[in-house]
Amino acid sequence: MTDLPEPRLLDRFGRVGRDLRVSVTDRCNLRCTYCMPAEGLDWLPKPEMLTDDELVRLVRVMVGLGVTNVRLTGGEPLLRRSLAEVVGRIAALTPRPRIAMTTNGVGLDRLAAPLAAAGLDRVNISLDTVDPQQFRELTRRDRFEDVEAGLKAAADAGLTPVKVNAVAMRDVNDTGVAELLQWCLDRGYELRFIEQMPLDAQHAWDRSRMVSQAEILERLGERFRLTPVQDRGSAPAERFLVDGGPQTVGVIASVSAPFCAACDRVRLTADGQLRNCLFARSEVDLRGPMRDGASDDELADLVVGEMWAKKVGHGIDNPDFEQPDRPMSAIGG
Ligand code: 5AD
Ligand code: SF4
Repeated sequence: MTDLPEPRLLDRFGRVGRDLRVSVTDRCNLRCTYCMPAEGLDWLPKPEMLTDDELVRLVRVMVGLGVTNVRLTGGEPLLRRSLAEVVGRIAALTPRPRIAMTTNGVGLDRLAAPLAAAGLDRVNISLDTVDPQQFRELTRRDRFEDVEAGLKAAADAGLTPVKVNAVAMRDVNDTGVAELLQWCLDRGYELRFIEQMPLDAQHAWDRSRMVSQAEILERLGERFRLTPVQDRGSAPAERFLVDGGPQTVGVIASVSAPFCAACDRVRLTADGQLRNCLFARSEVDLRGPMRDGASDDELADLVVGEMWAKKVGHGIDNPDFEQPDRPMSAIGG
């Protein structure tokens, strides 16, 4: 067994970075209304994106600094053609990190098995509604059946527990949260609701319209008996047994009850910028120095320095809060 490297991703508030989120592309094949406009965004030009070699090198450097979990995100990570190869190369690192992926599920019906074979351990699939018509309105694409097939393929490939992420939006899908939970329970998927955060490209987020954890629990409570599970640890989701269990539902109250104090995350964008928080106002460029010949130790020093500068929290409730310039799709979930 390999000894774990000494953790070096420390900040001034005693937190330790363990969980690296890597956005492998900023592109997406859906257009969720809470994320991006119908016409999409100005995608990164190819030369600005990390190559596979560069991406894997940075992950290796971060694993050397104590990262134990790598999550591949987007945009939509399945749109990166070399994804299975990247997964295989990350799985070959020592010590091998656990590898997860956040995806919208479109195309996963074909890719789940090869990704699992390459070393992917788990998936989180985003699904906000199980009403195909509502899905079409919300994502501006008629792909509900693809996601349904993707979920099934993930379970069949052993990418378990299959988790479903949902964002509840007022007057859109908020009345369907119990139906969504029943759908997931029937299929053995673990559902988690995420409070909507101010990370949309359109900057249209409005705190007063956000569907809060309390409201989600109230609506679920009309149909199910929920009892809190007491093993939260650094996991952001507050989990509840549904009707006595064993199945659970989670709610991630990223806005109304932030979990910043227990945050163990750090993020790498598809163009090689390191962010110590989703809401960071700054990032450190790793691509430039890497292309200029920086050594692994020099890259590691840049990473360590950026982690040390991590702020205590996102400060969404502060009067001077400013939404980050990059939208969620360009940071990675
Ligand atoms: N707030 C909360 N969650 C979001 N997601 C995308 N944008 C937001 C937002 N503004 C979700 C997606 C996906 C995951 C990557 O984050 O639905 O599940
Ligand atoms: Fe794509 Fe995810 Fe944004 Fe939806 S929320 S448009 S699936 S990146």
